[in-house]
Amino acid sequence: MNAVDVVVMAAGKGTRMKSRTPKVLHRLGGRPLIQHVIDTAQALKARRTIVITGHGAADVESWVAHAASAAGQRVPDFVRQEPQLGTGHAVQQVVPVLPDDGIALILNGDVPLVRPETLQVLVDRCGGSRLALLTVEMADPTGYGRIVRSGDAVKAIVEHKDASPAQRALREVYTGFMAVPSAQLKKWLARLTNDNAQGEYYLTDIVKLAAADGVEVVAAPASEQVEVDGVNSPVQLADLERAFQRRQANALMEQGVRLADPARFDLRGTLACGQDVEIDVNCVFAGQVSLGDNVRIGPNCVIANARIAAGAVIHAFTHIDGETSGVEVGEGALVGPFARLRPGAQLGAEVHIGNFVEVKNSTMARGAKANHLAYLGDATVGERVNYGAGSITANYDGANKNRTVIEADVHVGSNCVLVAPVTVKQGGTIGAGSVINRNTEAGKLTVARARQVSLEGWERPKKPAKK
Ligand code: UD1
Ligand code: MG
Repeated sequence: MNAVDVVVMAAGKGTRMKSRTPKVLHRLGGRPLIQHVIDTAQALKARRTIVITGHGAADVESWVAHAASAAGQRVPDFVRQEPQLGTGHAVQQVVPVLPDDGIALILNGDVPLVRPETLQVLVDRCGGSRLALLTVEMADPTGYGRIVRSGDAVKAIVEHKDASPAQRALREVYTGFMAVPSAQLKKWLARLTNDNAQGEYYLTDIVKLAAADGVEVVAAPASEQVEVDGVNSPVQLADLERAFQRRQANALMEQGVRLADPARFDLRGTLACGQDVEIDVNCVFAGQVSLGDNVRIGPNCVIANARIAAGAVIHAFTHIDGETSGVEVGEGALVGPFARLRPGAQLGAEVHIGNFVEVKNSTMARGAKANHLAYLGDATVGERVNYGAGSITANYDGANKNRTVIEADVHVGSNCVLVAPVTVKQGGTIGAGSVINRNTEAGKLTVARARQVSLEGWERPKKPAKK
């Protein structure tokens, strides 16, 4: 078994993106392009990952290093290629840090959807002694390097700009992925020249050097075109985004998840689903989300970093984002439509959250309800509490956040302000329109508003009589 050292080419500029962001940092499914490639390399259990950076090098390196540490993975090695004199020149920069005894697997930082299984086939075909190229047949191969054979044997790759009319008619092209014995790669890299149409050092020229050295060159076909499609423009990025989303949607549906329309489904993170989960159209999931058995998600919901327990129903247009603290929705809870759950919202079983209700950093015990137009921030809400329409916790005094405690079986009327820190004791009722800034007594009706009066002898002003 030969160790695999992955080399990721990511120095190119990406002119056609017309963006200040380095191309490989543009996102697909919520993750930078290069992260897809590095994660795929991780799946191969590569010994080392070496990333070649150039344009936007500092940004690319800090992103990749940060993501690796956050995931508890080894930070890749970086080598810089400045200036960029071609793909061969790029890989030449790696020579000092690339061990001789392994297989170099060369990947493109802007081709995000290649599968680990495909790369494994490439590594196996190399086997430590052959040069293995990932190739694909293209209806329109314009711009790509053509695979030139003599009989069955691969003899060379000829770049489009250098190709003769007969070579341009070849449809089998090089995808930019190869697996090659590292010691031999280094010998061939040292012999590259830039005597070609673009005046660049072509990595692809090592193929004719290998053939001349009597090393067998094998072509492994990619299983689907989308695996080897690169991102050069916003249009291509959007096309690959859809392909990626379709791949994720298919994987979920194969597990039994029912998506109303896989073309209107977006997952920018991970989504774990129980049995009989239903997701309506236009939902976006981000970060880490889990949905228990029988959960139903209505149309147009945005859900990030949340755990939603079995049987809960999230109605249309609900926005849930747990950020780093998370959101929990209990079994059989009903949320929305038009609800907003923010970090630290922890809803127990059978809780109801209705339209235009915002919950942040608050726990709601079993059966508590806030059905209309309300805010609960930094609150601890007991079982079966009914929290009236238009009521809020005034949790922020301008300097500090304070907690509101609402004990079990409390009934908060409409349009109340609970000025924290304050406790509403068990079983109490708060009259509508009250401003509560002292603890209330259990079981009693507390009203804190001006008493209603009707004035005798009062007359409504009259308009002056017209002359
Ligand atoms: C390359 C191949 C071509 C193949 C095609 C597949 C060569 C000479 N040609 O062509 O046979 O069909 O990919 O997409 O290799 N890069 C650097 N430094 C450089 C130049 C490029 O790091 O100096 C990186 C780019 O960021 C990119 C990759 O190498 O990730 C490929 O470069 P690109 O310019 O797209 O090569 P192509 O001309 O498309
Ligand atoms: Mg290219």
